Amino acid sequence: MDVAGQAAADALERAGGLLAGAERVVVFSGAGVSTDSGIPDFRSPGGLWSRYDPRELGFRRYVSDPGTRRLAWRLRRELHRLEARPNPAHLACVRLAEAGRLAGVITQNIDGLHTDAGLPAELVCEVHGTGRQFVCLACGERGPMGEAVARVEAGEEDPACLTCGGIIKAATVSFGQNIPADVWARAEALTAACDAFVAVGSSLVVQPAAGLPVRASRQGATLVIVNREPTPLDDLADAVLHGEAGTLLPALVSAALRARPQR
Ligand code: APR
Repeated sequence: MDVAGQAAADALERAGGLLAGAERVVVFSGAGVSTDSGIPDFRSPGGLWSRYDPRELGFRRYVSDPGTRRLAWRLRRELHRLEARPNPAHLACVRLAEAGRLAGVITQNIDGLHTDAGLPAELVCEVHGTGRQFVCLACGERGPMGEAVARVEAGEEDPACLTCGGIIKAATVSFGQNIPADVWARAEALTAACDAFVAVGSSLVVQPAAGLPVRASRQGATLVIVNREPTPLDDLADAVLHGEAGTLLPALVSAALRARPQR
């Protein structure tokens, strides 16, 4: 193994050792855990924000401008067609749960892949909502995204609520929308109670979510960051692993479980 490879292996074992005693691990995931499943992230070269201006898709524009809704539904249809499946990064979280060590996953992702991988919904906190459902902004009617996408595929560029005629939207938290209070309270509670916080596949630049790893570190939890690129919180972390989530997260979980017999 070359010097760089040995250094990476040593960093991985060290990070695994830091997690060895952790009983209540929170995994905080970003779009980088789903790129191996074919879903583009936002801020990498070629990511969604290199193709769309996020300000064009903000909540206020969505409500006021039919053109914005038509663009959003085209994007929704594109993402739905991917039929993305969980990858080894998602499966590593399941392994941690099966070992009794995962307090929960706080995910910024809306793709539903953590639950598809086998995590029970009660262990997944979707702080930015879900793209798996649509919601009517007027009457609150909800339904499966597949039904709305089928209407778009059939030619309805801006489908309206079938119950009240109101505007329907993916049940995500767009820029300009607040994270539902109960969801945020759950994310804060998970963070407050964890003894280790593993941020994976996130640029850690979007608030308030990116404040959670800081809170975890300040309360004494072990903070590990796994990401392809450096993040603004790398200096705060107890360990930083730069590389592919689909490789590093499974290896990190194995190192953490190896460092202590499973219960
Ligand atoms: N392995 C490891 N890291 C990866 C991989 C991968 N396979 N693919 C991408 N990354 C890294 C990128 O280098 C980047 O730093 O994941 C990070 C993804 O960052 P963003 O694209 O900014 O995604 P995220 O942090 O989840 O964005 C947060 O911003 O636009 C909003 O609501 C949106 O939830 C999203 C939020």
